[in-house]
Parts: sequence; C-alpha cells; structure tokens
Amino acid sequence: MLFDTHAHLDDRKYEGDRDETIKRAKDAGVGLIVNVGCNPEAAERTIELTRKYSFIYGAVGMHPHDAKDFDEGFCEKIKKWVKEEKIVALGEMGLDYHYDHSPRDVQKKVFRRQIALARELKLPIIIHDREAHQDVLDIVREEKAGEVGGVFHCYSGSWPMAKEIMEMGFFIALGGTVTFNNAVKPIDVAGKIPLENLLIETDCPYLAPVPFRGKRNEPAYVAKVAERIAEIKGVSVEEVAAQTTANGKKLFGIKE
Ligand code: NI
Repeated sequence: MLFDTHAHLDDRKYEGDRDETIKRAKDAGVGLIVNVGCNPEAAERTIELTRKYSFIYGAVGMHPHDAKDFDEGFCEKIKKWVKEEKIVALGEMGLDYHYDHSPRDVQKKVFRRQIALARELKLPIIIHDREAHQDVLDIVREEKAGEVGGVFHCYSGSWPMAKEIMEMGFFIALGGTVTFNNAVKPIDVAGKIPLENLLIETDCPYLAPVPFRGKRNEPAYVAKVAERIAEIKGVSVEEVAAQTTANGKKLFGIKE
C-alpha cells in the first residue's frame, strides 16, 4: 500500500474528473492520501473530500504565497476545522523566497503564528521551504516546532541539512523531483536517508514524476516516486511502500 502524504485534489485542475482521479489512485494501490488545503477555500474543499472518501485525510493552513491574507479570523477557522476527526495536521506553512508572493517579513510572522497554533492544538506541521532553508530552520528551532514534529515536504535541501531536520524530529518527504535526472540533491538525499525517516508524496497537480513530467500530476503517480527511491536505494518497491506508509501513519496518527 502507498501513502501519498501531500496532494491538492481540491485544485480546480481536477474539476472535470476528480472522482475518476481518486479512483485511479485507489486502483494504483494508493491506500491513504493527505490532502493539503492551504488557503480558506482549499481548506473547506479538503474537509468535503475527507468526508466523502474514507482513505483521504486532510491538513489545513495558510501557504506562504497567501501569507498576506492571514489574520486571527483564519486562526479561529483553523481551530474549528481541526475538530474534524480526519484533519490530522496544519499546513502547508513556511517560506517561499522563489516567488515572493507575500512580503518576506509577513511570511515569517505567519509561519511563526501557525507553529504556535500547531503547538496549542498538538498537531504536526507540513512545511514548505523554497529557497529559504536557513530562515526556515531558524524559525522551526526558535518556535520549538519539534515539540509537535512534522514533515519538510518536497524536500529540496542538502543531505547535511536533512540530518539536522531529522535530529529535530521531522520527516523528509520526497516527490516527483527525485525522478528527474538533473535532481542532484533529492537523489543524494534518497540514497542516504534511512527509510524510517522518509515519506513520499506527489504535491499534485504539480511536479509530476517521469514519465509524466510537465503534465498534470495525480496521486496514482506516487508509485513512480516509490519505484525510483527503491532503485536508488537498491531495495524492493514493496519495502519502500510499506515503510513510508508506516511512517506517514505514525506522523499523522492514522490508525487504520
Ligand atoms: Ni503543496
């Protein structure tokens, strides 16, 4: 069984065939999905998905892109949403210095606020870090995010940084980029990281793995990520699938 720990099935790109896409995931052996609703509208749609599909769980939070729209009213909404049994994490949250859609000082403030909220609610966090490695690490440490733990999703940092992250009690998630031939760092990390610290994901509809690169991504393709990691590590796909699924269930407190 495969666990896609990061999907955005609420995205409009699935408007015409969302149910079919979810069925294809099931048929491909994906037994669990965490859908990440990272703005107010996406969070509402995520809750609908978790109610409709037994194997879809959810996370709610504010993406760094939308940090400028964050306010205490949104915090109150999060507190209400997490009362849903299948909302298992806060996120994705963090810093994105590639696009800078929100001012960096606002991104940092909102990241800190959401970590505090996660500690208050005792839920793990899903971290988005794009070209902001040092600031993300500093904030995670200063805000004591290790207390609740979580995952660095679509990890793009180095192996030495991955070691620091694991020591703080976080998982590393690899996605489609590990299948790209020019992805030096993810391939290096995949080779060195113990399977016990690893999660897999699609981040669909973005970052489709080879041979679907450039197309719309979907949870079924997480199989390609598992296959590539197995190949890099010289272990069976079944072993990668079983261990990453067990890791995801442990992190998100999923019993099934
Ligand atoms: Ni995402």
